[in-house]
Amino acid sequence: MSTVFNVNSLARENVRQLVPYMSARRLGGNGNIWLNANEYPIAPDFQFSEKTLNRYPECQPASVIQRYADYAGLQPDQVLVSRGADESIELLIRVFCEPGKDAVLFCPPTYGMYSVSAETFGVEQKKIPTRTDWLPDIAAIENNLDRVKLIYICSPNNPTGNLIAPAALRQILELARNRAIVAIDEAYIEFCPQHTTTRWLRDYPHLVILRTLSKAFALAGLRCGFTLASPDIIALMLKVIAPYPLATPVADIAAQALTEAGINIMKDRVEEVVKNRTYLQQTLNELAMVEKVFPSETNYILVKFTDAEIVFRTLWEQGIILRDQRRQAGLDNCLRITIGSRNECEQLVSAISTLGSQAQPLKETENP
Ligand SMILES: Cc1ncc(COP(=O)(O)O)c(C=O)c1O
Repeated sequence: MSTVFNVNSLARENVRQLVPYMSARRLGGNGNIWLNANEYPIAPDFQFSEKTLNRYPECQPASVIQRYADYAGLQPDQVLVSRGADESIELLIRVFCEPGKDAVLFCPPTYGMYSVSAETFGVEQKKIPTRTDWLPDIAAIENNLDRVKLIYICSPNNPTGNLIAPAALRQILELARNRAIVAIDEAYIEFCPQHTTTRWLRDYPHLVILRTLSKAFALAGLRCGFTLASPDIIALMLKVIAPYPLATPVADIAAQALTEAGINIMKDRVEEVVKNRTYLQQTLNELAMVEKVFPSETNYILVKFTDAEIVFRTLWEQGIILRDQRRQAGLDNCLRITIGSRNECEQLVSAISTLGSQAQPLKETENP
């Protein structure tokens, strides 16, 4: 006689309740134009130079750390490399937050992994919505700092595309002094490098900066990110990181991407993305279905449509995959669109304008 064994009954309560992060890949789609994950549209070319795959890799490959430190203008002991910035988001919770006791704070609408990582570890989340201009509500943050050990601020923010004003960042850092870590997520900072907060590390021992090779470096598939912080914070994170977080080929390619030549290629790529972004913003602004194109400091734009459902579904069926943001606080009718190649931008505009001309008569009959 067999009884039905439900393995879920063994799982931790918070894991049973957990809604996993719906990454672009998990959401699927049958696309030929992928504009939903803020990736670069063309794969960069690399050759493997490191073939000693019989050996375990270094935990923190010296050449990768040294080159990133040089690139960021810091010392190697201020840099940690991990399996994407996502791993760093999680490591910070593992280092600083006691489940059931401490809390993390962040300001929606923002990047989804702060919530998922806190949930996974059973750490309380304080969600302090941004103001209508998408800047943090400083007074509300101040009133909710009880038990908060870790504050995530995404700048430029995903999905809204705006920078968080330096004055607001400093106010948060002052509020958190001696009581919480402030992690500024600079995943998109290469698109506005003058706004990095790396120089602030001297003044704020509780500041942590998150970086990635997934965006301007065009290496999302590599899974390589960085944490910049005081040597003391880096030492704590090294206590909990996996023994071999980076596969040998990952370290090999990351080191190549961070040479002077690699960094110059990245900068050219940023210029091209910014040009395409301007083109897309200008042309979308003229379309009937578009209510508002928000300014952006990144490789994506947030767009408010008159009917986002129609745009999202119709383009999805045509193989143009966008990111639906309608469930995020304050983002009714908003879709996030990654800046693709010029050709992809043109196809996108053409698909939406066709839609607009089909939808127009409908709108007129609705509103005589
Ligand atoms: C704001 C932000 N932080 C972190 C990440 C994750 O970066 P990685 O690919 O290095 O894990 C992303 C990816 O989209 C992001 O948008």
